[in-house]
Amino acid sequence: MTAPNEAPGRTPGAGATAPVLQAEGLSWSVGGATIVQDVSFEVGEGEFLAFIGPNGAGKTSLFNLVSGLVPASAGTVRLDGSDITAEPAHARARRGLGRTFQTSSLWPEMTVADHVRLAAQAASGGSYRIWRRAAGYQRELEHVLERTGLSHRADAPADGLSHGEKRKLELAVLLVGEPRVMLLDEPMAGVSAEEVPVLAELIRSLHRDEGRTVLMVEHHMDILLSLADRLAVMHHGTLLTVDTPRAVMADATVQQAYLGEEL
Ligand SMILES: Nc1ncnc2c1ncn2[C@@H]1O[C@H](COP(=O)(O)OP(=O)(O)O)[C@@H](O)[C@H]1O
Ligand SMILES: [Mg+2]
Repeated sequence: MTAPNEAPGRTPGAGATAPVLQAEGLSWSVGGATIVQDVSFEVGEGEFLAFIGPNGAGKTSLFNLVSGLVPASAGTVRLDGSDITAEPAHARARRGLGRTFQTSSLWPEMTVADHVRLAAQAASGGSYRIWRRAAGYQRELEHVLERTGLSHRADAPADGLSHGEKRKLELAVLLVGEPRVMLLDEPMAGVSAEEVPVLAELIRSLHRDEGRTVLMVEHHMDILLSLADRLAVMHHGTLLTVDTPRAVMADATVQQAYLGEEL
């Protein structure tokens, strides 16, 4: 875990490591409305940056900009120092920038294993070395299912899964590409209270044990406080603050932004 950077006189940044992802002045306007406005932040290698903010604050739209799902109206996105602003989502994914979606993106009648196989097939045209070797294919499928706790559900159709298992499968599909940077948009949305800690533990392990950089939108504050190195607070399309969880929770502006609004 990145040590909190709380040196006096310095804005807490991405810690000691070089920034892996940098957004500079990112904006997105659609139909005359500015949804994301002049957002800048950096994420260090192996860091966990959580995004919070009321519904409609622009968190998903920001993830759309970073992952390349929508083109930026202004600003730049850099990955490992390279400007990827003009690259489409699949090119960014090939560079190791992957995401999951706020709403479920599964095929109801397709099995767990087939979801992973399809993702592997889609990826095999790219630079996904491991999946190209037929011999390693079954082993990798088993490995992905094992890491996400879905081995015993391999032959179950997606619509037979619990909400938590569906979320795990979305993570399994993401992991096929072995992303170094994962954008997780509300990965616990719709999940039952009993399944939330299981998912939190899975995400923790993908971050701490496997060393992946994580950007995550989530509403479960207790989970964010235990996982995140820093919290980014969005409000009305802008980034209010990025700081350690402790500093953010003590920030009067943040509290004001949330007064009467559900986190
Ligand atoms: N494609 C779109 N066209 C017009 N407005 C949009 C579009 N996508 C999102 N919005 C609007 O942008 C605002 C931010 O939405 P969103 O990024 O989904 O917020 P959050 O994820 O923080 O809840 C909302 O007011 C939403 O209605
Ligand atoms: Mg959202």
